[in-house]
Amino acid sequence: MGDKNKVVYKRILLKLSGEALLGKQSSGVDPDVANYIATEIKLLADLNVQIGIVVGGGNIFRGLEASSKGMDRTTADYMGMLATVINSLALQSALEMHGIATRVQSSIEMREIAEPFIQRKAVRHLEKGRIVIFAGGTGNPYFTTDTAASLRAMEIKADVIMKATKVDGVYDCDPVKNKAAIMFKNIKYIDVLTKNLKVMDATAISLCRDNLLPIIVFNLQKKGNIRGVICGKKIGTYVGE
Ligand code: GTP
Repeated sequence: MGDKNKVVYKRILLKLSGEALLGKQSSGVDPDVANYIATEIKLLADLNVQIGIVVGGGNIFRGLEASSKGMDRTTADYMGMLATVINSLALQSALEMHGIATRVQSSIEMREIAEPFIQRKAVRHLEKGRIVIFAGGTGNPYFTTDTAASLRAMEIKADVIMKATKVDGVYDCDPVKNKAAIMFKNIKYIDVLTKNLKVMDATAISLCRDNLLPIIVFNLQKKGNIRGVICGKKIGTYVGE
């Protein structure tokens, strides 16, 4: 492909929400959506991009919601972490159906179904061209999977976090509710925090800011967008300093 030499990000951390896997279903994983994500990732095959993935669990269980209804927060968060393991395995299966080598590493040890998270091993897998799916969030309650994405991105020394959403980028207000919403092409971490723009939670944004890790918020539902971002096309919103 012609844009091969223009790869601007060599190692990425892709953050997918659990809801992104819902598709037309009300819960669980829609195989068509998992398959679509795999085909988007397959488009990167000739670019030699190293890919880590963190997926949320909201399509199966939302820890914060359950705790607001009275469930113990720590228990609810652990249930959410287990949900991310289910999603990670679904994603691994979809990627492998497309012949893409993957390894799932879990921050909560469950060796029968996934490798434990070992930073050096993860980097080695990436260097060998395998996609590493980081399951189980950070392994701690009170942290979101966005924070897990920031943490793992830092640990594997990713060049960027690519945060997949259902809209084109970061807007000044909810673009689904307000047709006049304006999308930012670039925005500073501090503005995301002070304007409470809900790109990622404050812990995740702060971690990126402290370590100058850029975040690109983009629409996963538009075909070719992941490849476009990696090849330097001005897609979505760039969050940086
Ligand atoms: P290299 O040998 O470094 O190239 O990596 P590898 O992942 O191919 O080798 P390894 O022998 O570590 O793993 C072989 C297979 O077993 C891979 O599919 C791993 O994901 C899997 N595997 C390794 N460790 C574990 C574990 O603790 N639990 C589970 N469930 N699978 C594991």
